[in-house]
Amino acid sequence: MGKNRKKFSQKYYKCSELPASDLQDDDSEINPEDIIRRINDTKADVKSSQFYRDSLSTIVGVQERENQLRKIDKIICFGLGHFSQCVSSRTQLCFISQLKEDLSVDEILFQDPIFSLIEKEILEKLRFSVIPGNLEGKFIVNPGEICLFYLPHCPKQLTNNFLWANWGPTLSKILLISNAFSGVLISQSKASQEINAGLILKAEEFTEEIPLKNSYIFTDIFNDTALHHFPEKIFKEKFLRLWKDKGPEPIYSDPEFITSSLNRLNIGENVNEKISSSPVVQYILTEFRKNKTTDETLCKAKEELHFMAETYLCYLQSQRKVQLIRTQYSGRGERTISDTANLVGFKLPHDPK
Ligand SMILES: C[S@@+](CC[C@H](N)C(=O)[O-])C[C@H]1O[C@@H](n2cnc3c(N)ncnc32)[C@H](O)[C@@H]1O
Repeated sequence: MGKNRKKFSQKYYKCSELPASDLQDDDSEINPEDIIRRINDTKADVKSSQFYRDSLSTIVGVQERENQLRKIDKIICFGLGHFSQCVSSRTQLCFISQLKEDLSVDEILFQDPIFSLIEKEILEKLRFSVIPGNLEGKFIVNPGEICLFYLPHCPKQLTNNFLWANWGPTLSKILLISNAFSGVLISQSKASQEINAGLILKAEEFTEEIPLKNSYIFTDIFNDTALHHFPEKIFKEKFLRLWKDKGPEPIYSDPEFITSSLNRLNIGENVNEKISSSPVVQYILTEFRKNKTTDETLCKAKEELHFMAETYLCYLQSQRKVQLIRTQYSGRGERTISDTANLVGFKLPHDPK
């Protein structure tokens, strides 16, 4: 925990470190009014921060250069996380809601499959909308609408899906604040880029990425974040080939990215049930957290699980080989007298002639 955090009396959790038990959405102790009060307090801190002022002027600067982005109609936020428990998520919520006010945007839509019922209730009390279900990031922008997408520290697959769904000239109507594309790509092997971030890779060619300098008092809330936009001039002949080449709908297996099928695991009869209370989801999330590597940090233990699995496999294979060698070549211990006699072709006195 950083020194600065101690100045604040708020209970602090880094979202990715929330223990599995916190994901059971047992929010019976959470008082929505209390959370709203904290949001208002944090919003004042965010609004007066240098980080916020710089980010706002970066966005406005792009809007001034790109005429078609002058009036943003909607903000869509995916992957905010548990803002009732987690300071990072709550601060990001304040950031985006302050942008809504300063950019005079009509509405913000939120979606995160881990939102609890109380969190959805709080968002609605704040006059924001919650998109039901799980679009997996594939929110299709209506023609004629200008949208700002906010994907704070989200799995790369979410950004990849968002690009896939809007691949083509629609992109020129979109601003995107997310993990910087360049950072996402650097931290991936070529094979992983192809599987999980194929469209981020393709988009890098024409995306203008403007880093949002991370000057906020807490350094792990807005780190690695950039504003991306797709200048209108790119929608020229030169790129026609690229638009045809978006490929089939991506499929992923990284558990950090929550798929709609994972949602369905425990929706069952009651659509209000939370996916995180499913034992299957609990198990997957716990295992994943235990072995998680991140895009953002150089993780020395990254290969550790793989190494352990390889070692165990080698041990089991070796055990089997030893067994085979033993059966084939080793002596069977001391032979009986009749076996020895048989071996050399003798007969024992009581053997039939
Ligand atoms: C690393 S956490 C980031 C949380 C928070 N924004 C932060 O910066 O600490 C990734 C978030 O992405 C969300 N997420 C995963 N799959 C998603 C999906 N299909 N749609 C929307 N959000 C998703 C997770 O629930 C989680 O809240």
